Amino acid sequence: MNDLFTVSNQVAVVTGAGSGIGRASALALSQSGASVVCGDIDTRNAEITKSLIVDGGGRALSVSVDVSKREQVGALIDMAIEEFGTLDIMCNIAGIMHQSTVLETQDSDLDRVLDVNLKGVFYGCQIAASEMSKRRSGSIINMVSSAIDAPAPGIVCYAMAKAAVAQLTKTLAIEMGKYNVRVNAVAPGFVVTAMTSRHFQLDDGSVDPERREAVVTSMGKMAPLRRVGEPEDIAGAVVYLASNAASFVTGQIIRVNGGVSMQ
Ligand SMILES: NC(=O)c1ccc[n+]([C@@H]2O[C@H](COP(=O)([O-])OP(=O)(O)OC[C@H]3O[C@@H](n4cnc5c(N)ncnc54)[C@H](O)[C@@H]3O)[C@@H](O)[C@H]2O)c1
Repeated sequence: MNDLFTVSNQVAVVTGAGSGIGRASALALSQSGASVVCGDIDTRNAEITKSLIVDGGGRALSVSVDVSKREQVGALIDMAIEEFGTLDIMCNIAGIMHQSTVLETQDSDLDRVLDVNLKGVFYGCQIAASEMSKRRSGSIINMVSSAIDAPAPGIVCYAMAKAAVAQLTKTLAIEMGKYNVRVNAVAPGFVVTAMTSRHFQLDDGSVDPERREAVVTSMGKMAPLRRVGEPEDIAGAVVYLASNAASFVTGQIIRVNGGVSMQ
């Protein structure tokens, strides 16, 4: 049974590896045996994730990448193949939040969120799938959100992009099945990361501990499991989808959210 859940000798690319869910996923994949290419637009944070992996005895590289640029995503994947010889696991985790209602949304906001959260994932999927189909093996994992199920006011750009990624995931899963390439997504509920810290940050960017406690408590109460998520909760689903334990799983959106929404 143990072998089912390892990704030993596999090569993973993780975008958004410099923070939150991406960092936890990169570390978890490494701890489960993979060599990991840590991509992030924040070069310093990607390097920290790489160091955490290497200091723990794993193999990793860090690469500066803006996922909204096709050629940079291509270079990221090329780097994995050059340095580690192949690409087995592609995790499209990088993402940004933008808050505005439909009426407030500017074209520039819409473009920026769709460029990173949708086109960035599309490039990662397309380039990785092309490589993996040649090798007749691979697992692509996209990060969507509870926002695909539960519309919330003020995050329209984000929710539209995530819903589109869910459909991209299913479409690509159908197209890639014959090549033994699996394509799935994880839809996290509320997870405490840099992205969600906006709910309890003061104007100067520092965290208000009382507001943090209030937000975490109220968000946690919405879940049957009575808590919010930690990045490691999501990383567990990523490792599962990457591993042989999920060898018959494709085109699925796994909702890791404490039970907040059930489909
Ligand atoms: N935290 C949550 O509650 C939550 C819930 C649902 C989905 N998600 C999704 O999980 C993913 C990770 O989010 P997180 O909460 O860890 O956020 P985070 O802000 O902690 O991490 C996001 C990372 O993506 C990187 N990034 C941003 N733009 C990039 C770009 N253009 N190119 C490359 N890297 C870029 C950032 O530098 C950062 O390191 C996102 O796709 C997010 O939408 C998060």
